[in-house]
Amino acid sequence: MKSSLLVDVKFDIFGNFDRFRKALPGRQIINWSDLEARPNDLSGIHYALGWKPDEGLFATMPDLKVMFSVGAGVDHMLEDKSLPDLPLVRFVDQSLTSRMSEWICLQCLIHLRQHSLYTRQQKDKLWRDHPQPDAGDLRVGIMGLGILGSDAAAKLKMLGFQVNGWSRTRKTLPGVNCFDESELDEFLACSDILVGLLPLTPQTTGIFNASLFAKLPDTTPIGGPIFINAGRGKSQVEADIISALQDGRLKGVSLDVFEDEPLPQESPLWLIENAVLTPHVASVSDADALATHVAGQIERFEAGLALEYLVDKKTGY
Ligand SMILES: NC(=O)c1ccc[n+]([C@@H]2O[C@H](COP(=O)([O-])OP(=O)(O)OC[C@H]3O[C@@H](n4cnc5c(N)ncnc54)[C@H](OP(=O)(O)O)[C@@H]3O)[C@@H](O)[C@H]2O)c1
Repeated sequence: MKSSLLVDVKFDIFGNFDRFRKALPGRQIINWSDLEARPNDLSGIHYALGWKPDEGLFATMPDLKVMFSVGAGVDHMLEDKSLPDLPLVRFVDQSLTSRMSEWICLQCLIHLRQHSLYTRQQKDKLWRDHPQPDAGDLRVGIMGLGILGSDAAAKLKMLGFQVNGWSRTRKTLPGVNCFDESELDEFLACSDILVGLLPLTPQTTGIFNASLFAKLPDTTPIGGPIFINAGRGKSQVEADIISALQDGRLKGVSLDVFEDEPLPQESPLWLIENAVLTPHVASVSDADALATHVAGQIERFEAGLALEYLVDKKTGY
């Protein structure tokens, strides 16, 4: 018997575990719920895949060699303070990257093309046109130029937007003005549409707040700055977003992630017209792609090759 994999996914996004059995033939695939039948025997599990594992669960697996995250982000995994000091591989896949770029491009176009305004007009059966700037008149600034941010940057360029990007270390991307950590204020001053694609770390917690929004341009070709976030909700201060929308500092927002998920019923965000909200679905991990990715990394590991997409636990992403 080849070494086994624990699939620690408590919500049913994957339906069943057959895809893991298919991608990893000859291996025992242990479902999280099977653990209840063997609470004191977690030996023989060499690989574990999780999203938000129970605190301390992975630390009780004596034979664990590699941990996998179900998503691109690993903040949920790193919340477990007793996570073993073992390689942690995050999910990177073309389907995940493309889905995120689709969502980002869609949101930029929604605001560029004044979609909320025309939706309201349709409800009122109102036939009225409004001045329309070009994509090339707008500067989109992406915070986070990793796998997702750099793909979104390339696709926004193809749509004609001017694209700037900000990351901890300076990047070189064709046609994109890249800023590093020390140049945040210059970067913000030229972001008509600000896009958040940052991982959640101590440095990025609460980063999208009133003092950051104050540094965005006062006027833009679409009547004010737009904020779009698909990174993590705890990077944004929702009270500040609501105030900024109410006092006109922000013209509109698109949010896929929230401080608390699901977004509480009483949040004023639900009812703000130029706030486009989606329930953390900008880029959901595709189950087949995830199984193929995990199988591929296990194969590499067992062949003595370096694992890919390793998380640096010091930076937290
Ligand atoms: N809403 C959804 O459905 C969804 C789906 C997937 C992922 N996500 C989120 O998207 C995030 C980004 O994913 P990814 O694969 O693109 O991550 P990634 O490849 O690790 O890229 C992260 C980027 O953020 C930058 N960064 C991190 N900390 C920073 C800081 N303190 N200051 C400035 N820049 C900083 C990094 O800078 P360097 O390049 O200099 O390291 C890098 O460019 C994930 O962590 C996850 O939270 C959301």
